[in-house]
Amino acid sequence: MTDMLGRALGPSIPVLTQFPLSLPSVVTDPNQLESVLLNLAVNARDAMPSGGPLVISAQAEELDAFNLHRLKAGRYVRFSVKDVGQGMDAETLARATEPFFTTKGIGKGTGLGLAMAQGFAEQSGGRLIVHSQLGAGTTVEIWLPAALAQPQVETALTPPPNTSNRRAISILAVDDDPLVLMNTVAMLEDLGHAVLEASLGTRALEILKGEAKLDLLITDHAMPGMTGAELIELARAERPHLPAILATGYTELPSDTQTSATRLAKPFDDLEKGLDIALRR
Ligand SMILES: Nc1ncnc2c1ncn2[C@@H]1O[C@H](COP(=O)(O)OP(=O)(O)OP(=O)(O)O)[C@@H](O)[C@H]1O
Ligand SMILES: [Mg+2]
Repeated sequence: MTDMLGRALGPSIPVLTQFPLSLPSVVTDPNQLESVLLNLAVNARDAMPSGGPLVISAQAEELDAFNLHRLKAGRYVRFSVKDVGQGMDAETLARATEPFFTTKGIGKGTGLGLAMAQGFAEQSGGRLIVHSQLGAGTTVEIWLPAALAQPQVETALTPPPNTSNRRAISILAVDDDPLVLMNTVAMLEDLGHAVLEASLGTRALEILKGEAKLDLLITDHAMPGMTGAELIELARAERPHLPAILATGYTELPSDTQTSATRLAKPFDDLEKGLDIALRR
């Protein structure tokens, strides 16, 4: 995630990592883990307006049945993301993981970052723990149970097998939220595709005009200026058969939005399936 974190955090936040030479494996969804870590890193950035180091670390832990975190006894990997930012007062800390709780301005935070991180940790059989004090920084820990069996080293090191015999295609990804866009692009690239990106509908249309070889458009719906559904309509005026995916956020599309595009809910669990459906239409 080095590139992604570097781009999201900027030069005033050096990222330090501390990992032992070896760690137990965990069984979890790597894409979700990435977006959780990214959200924690962005929270840390927001808490350090004048910059400062961010430390990402992981450690193996052994818990007995009487541990304070109310976790099952066993081995865990404890990830931690630590900043030296403004921290939280007791009231904010108590509500931080509540869905939609945010202290950031309207349009800045959805308040879902920590809620999703907590959901992710608990689904994986672990726990999210937040330590914070006003003026003294914040440490967010994600405890994940260690896997019972270690994967073979080969499986861990070879790139994900191209399970589909689908060819790599060229995709234009559009989202006004730079983090979501970055994440979408990373996921598509992980699937082996070539990705162009735009943060505005108008910019996407320019790219479409210039780019002869484009196999698919994937766009967010709620964007300033031009919605995703409008973008797809205009794109199809130029290229009637362009496969398109309309990706909607946590809230539903307004029901009066007509679109013949494939719809996909964010965050993507089934991006690969969505691509298949859109291409087959
Ligand atoms: N590292 C941190 N330092 C200080 N406060 C934090 C930190 N992380 C979270 N918070 C507080 O917890 C609130 C909720 O965080 P959460 O990630 O859930 O939502 P958000 O960052 O406000 O919005 P989003 O993640 O959707 O952009 C934040 O608005 C902030 O007040
Ligand atoms: Mg956040």
